[in-house]
Amino acid sequence: MCGIVGYFGYRDAKSIIVKGLKRLEYRGYDSAGIALYDGSDIKIIKTKGKVSDLEDKIAAKKNANGSLGIGHTRWATHGVPNDINSHPHRSNSGDLVIIHNGIIENYAAIKKELVNRGYSFQSDTDTEVLVNLIEAVQKSGNYKLGEAVQIALNQVVGAYAIAIIDLKKPNEIIVARLGSPLAIGIGKDEYFIASDASPFIEYTNNAVYLEDEEMAVIRLHKEPEFRNIKNGDLFDPYVQELQLNIEEIEKGGFNHFMLKEIFEQPKAIQDTYRGRLKVNKGLVKMSGIDDNIEKLSNAQKITIVGCGTSWHAGLVAEYIFEEIARIPVEVEYASEFRYRNPIISDKDIVIAISQSGETADTLAAIKLAKKNGAFVFGVCNVVGSSISRETDAGAYTHAGPEIGVASTKAFTTQITLLTMMALRLAKAKRTLSASDYKRHLIELETIPGKIKTVLESDALTKKIAGIYKDATNFLYLGRGFNFPVALEGALKLKEISYIHAEGYPAAEMKHGPIALIDENMPIVVIATKYGHYKKIVSNIQEIKSRKGKIIGIVTKGDTQVKALADHVIEIPETLELLSPLLTTIPLQLLSYHIAVLLGKNVDQPRNLAKSVTVE
Ligand code: F6R
Repeated sequence: MCGIVGYFGYRDAKSIIVKGLKRLEYRGYDSAGIALYDGSDIKIIKTKGKVSDLEDKIAAKKNANGSLGIGHTRWATHGVPNDINSHPHRSNSGDLVIIHNGIIENYAAIKKELVNRGYSFQSDTDTEVLVNLIEAVQKSGNYKLGEAVQIALNQVVGAYAIAIIDLKKPNEIIVARLGSPLAIGIGKDEYFIASDASPFIEYTNNAVYLEDEEMAVIRLHKEPEFRNIKNGDLFDPYVQELQLNIEEIEKGGFNHFMLKEIFEQPKAIQDTYRGRLKVNKGLVKMSGIDDNIEKLSNAQKITIVGCGTSWHAGLVAEYIFEEIARIPVEVEYASEFRYRNPIISDKDIVIAISQSGETADTLAAIKLAKKNGAFVFGVCNVVGSSISRETDAGAYTHAGPEIGVASTKAFTTQITLLTMMALRLAKAKRTLSASDYKRHLIELETIPGKIKTVLESDALTKKIAGIYKDATNFLYLGRGFNFPVALEGALKLKEISYIHAEGYPAAEMKHGPIALIDENMPIVVIATKYGHYKKIVSNIQEIKSRKGKIIGIVTKGDTQVKALADHVIEIPETLELLSPLLTTIPLQLLSYHIAVLLGKNVDQPRNLAKSVTVE
């Protein structure tokens, strides 16, 4: 949460930073701010609201210029979103200016000590405490800024990605990281700083991703100096060549990133299995799995950890692994797992799922699993993210940047990757017959084309959205592989339209939620033609006799549900195990259209952030 951007070079820092903040707005958007060194002073402009509000404020101040600057877009943790709590924050002397993503957990104790030493504070933030701690250290021993930052960071507990500039030494930016991401873009005679590479992708494709407990002193016309925060040791960083391109982070003619990302799913899934799914040869090839196949095949159980949509993908995977690889699977909320005393040993495999690769709870769950001796496999989308580095092995989903806060293509690509993993394991364990195995490979390859067909129901889904947009509650029902899809459908609606929605296994309805059903209740039922079909039809009859409104997701050619439901959206036939990849699509579209019709901010829903780097 929170996006940080910095620039030091020869161009207009303000326009680079503002454009960068817009690209990082998915990380937080309750306030924004910028600090620019104009040759004699550091000017700070900040505001509650969006980056566009900041732009208006900057435009009103005509003299905000400079080629050294830092900027921030905020998702509040300490202190309500208002102008004062917005970043950047200045130290008491006025010299040091900081931006920060993360949480300083022991800020209250540090603040008390600083107050005793005469420091005063304008804001309620932990960040203002941190910048003053750095200043206090700097003054206590006449330290250089880099040294003071290092000493101060050794006194704080928590997480941070920071960038700090000093009015007295406007020839450097100091950056540091622990637990929150920070990338340094290295250009010719210029440097960029950002929470991810998207703000600088058109200027350079060389970047250093700081690891935890690393810092850098960046000066113009000099090699940056990289140090370990704990012991001060210098090191040479790994300069990564970025693959990202500018088209991937723009809306490409769609009104919202979310819609673009929904429509990108056929390609995203192809990108997930490209080079890995070799139908002709009857192979699934993934080096992270192939290299560890013995360990995976001999595991006594798999525990999947994740949060939100990634947790839902884990639930789908539970059904898939158990069905075809015959291995017991448990799926845990990372936030619960990390604070329990889970029974995990070196005979277990833990799979951590995360789009961003930065989710604090998932990272902590991985650390706990590793401490208990488990082998941890990561399924991430963001290349080079913290989780991908923390895990023992892993595979990227290669879905491309997901910018809409509500996860869409991340979910379906995670399921695709986990399906391939289960198939690879099934082959190694011989738990699927050769013909069934081949059938799954062939069918998986057809999924992108079938998603394209489902996307043709966009106009129909929009019409249905128009009918139910004013409902105050929704119920989502599914069974088996599609029970987690019901949970995911409900989450999508809640997140972006703020309508209360619940997902349930269809048969559980009569153990409680049935009491909610009346003529005002829309119920989305995933009623595809598989083993549970007859039972789902009975569930639909139970709903109809209580006057509930049914939106059925059915297999093409269905007649029974069609006769009972108020609306149906068809999906092409596929294997039951792969059906979540299709049934999810209309639910994503339904929530998207309802939110748009209600005038909600689809890509940046209130209170949410894309990357949850705090617990
Ligand atoms: C839902 C959503 C969140 C994330 C969750 C985990 O649309 O986006 O529920 O799925 O915060 O995030 P990652 O996958 O980045 O760990």
